[in-house]
Amino acid sequence: MKSQEYTGGENFDLHDMLQLGRELRLHERARFFTQFIDDLNTNNKFVYRRCIDGEMEREVTVMSEESNTSKSFLMFGSNNYLGLTGHPYVKARVKAAIDKYGIGVGGPPLLNGYTTLHRELEKRISAFKGREDTLIFSSGYSTNVGLLTAIYNKQDVVLYDKYSHASLIDGLRMCKAAAFPFNHNDLIDLERLLEENQNSKGNVYVAVEGVYSMDGDLARLDEIVPLCKRYGAVIMLDDAHGTGVLGEHGRGTAEYFGVQDDVDIIVGTFSKAFGVVGGFISASEEIVNYLRFFARSYMFSASLPPPVVAAVLAGIDVLENEPELHNALHNNIAYAKQLLCEIGFNITTVTPIIALIVPETMDIRKAAYQFHKKGIFINAIEYPAVPVHLQRFRISLMATHTRSDIETLIGYVDDVWRTCGCSIREMHIES
Ligand SMILES: Cc1ncc(COP(=O)(O)O)c(C=O)c1O
Repeated sequence: MKSQEYTGGENFDLHDMLQLGRELRLHERARFFTQFIDDLNTNNKFVYRRCIDGEMEREVTVMSEESNTSKSFLMFGSNNYLGLTGHPYVKARVKAAIDKYGIGVGGPPLLNGYTTLHRELEKRISAFKGREDTLIFSSGYSTNVGLLTAIYNKQDVVLYDKYSHASLIDGLRMCKAAAFPFNHNDLIDLERLLEENQNSKGNVYVAVEGVYSMDGDLARLDEIVPLCKRYGAVIMLDDAHGTGVLGEHGRGTAEYFGVQDDVDIIVGTFSKAFGVVGGFISASEEIVNYLRFFARSYMFSASLPPPVVAAVLAGIDVLENEPELHNALHNNIAYAKQLLCEIGFNITTVTPIIALIVPETMDIRKAAYQFHKKGIFINAIEYPAVPVHLQRFRISLMATHTRSDIETLIGYVDDVWRTCGCSIREMHIES
């Protein structure tokens, strides 16, 4: 097994892990992988693909196929940051949209997949992001792939943060771009690359994420944007996790840093704070119009179903009309941070994503099973997605969590660390 360089976790490719499997023919490879997963489950309780029976809210019901039983969990592993998946107003608008538009459109936007509801959403997102126009994709993943493959031409260069999401990496692979990663959030490294490419005949694009999903840290847009402007680079911001979460009005990381007018191309998803699925690109009218014809994942893929579009429209209404939800999320972030710091963690995040790095001596799979037994739904990110010294539990907070939910979670974190014989304080004093 090849040792894995940390590339941010969510662009990790399982093929790299199963080098042997790669050389086998399909059926042998599938058997090899099945055996691998079975071994994981036999030797350790490997907690993954838990099957939820009901709403994806702060409390979820997880079904066990083996025992045909269900159990209630406190959900700390969902990107449903504002708790919109179960919001009564959102549900009501979705139901009304079904009554008017039905459940789907049966085609891509350039043919038959464009309704008045889709146009309304494009306009609302454009206003929300302070951009001239917007186009909507069927997922965040296909948004990045579509963007990269549409804009890139042979003379261009793409500079991207090393921790970028798999969707950007796959877009780069598909368009075979001349692409150079810079060290995560390292402005000196970025400037080195900008300098090296300043005489490039084509465009220089710089791709960053507002919030990096593995650590919950922010792109330093207040410095990155002026730096890119100095070199005439085109800035592409993927604000999947910042949209609905950061900034005074929840408009995202660019609003948070006061640079909303200076980012050229803003990408986002509807699968996080809006709780559904889909993606978008907001930019100038000309760029959006160009993308409508050249982003193949837009042109050759069916449009989002109207109920999904209605859910996002309703989500924007909620953000505008119920600021208390956005405030509740930030109060929860502050409270979780405070409690974690009290038990010895050093947490500085301003986002709902909190990474608890586990000590190398901790068996993260056993620890994950402890959380599972206690009814805490939390994501364990383990080697080789990250190096052993950066294995972590990733907590995702929601506006709908109560203070008591957060107290329960942090109490169990303390417990699990103790049960595994690890000291939180020692680890943070050492680092
Ligand atoms: C930064 C980033 N971009 C894009 C995506 C893909 O979005 P989706 O899951 O909506 O396809 C994700 C999903 O995790 C992401 O974190």
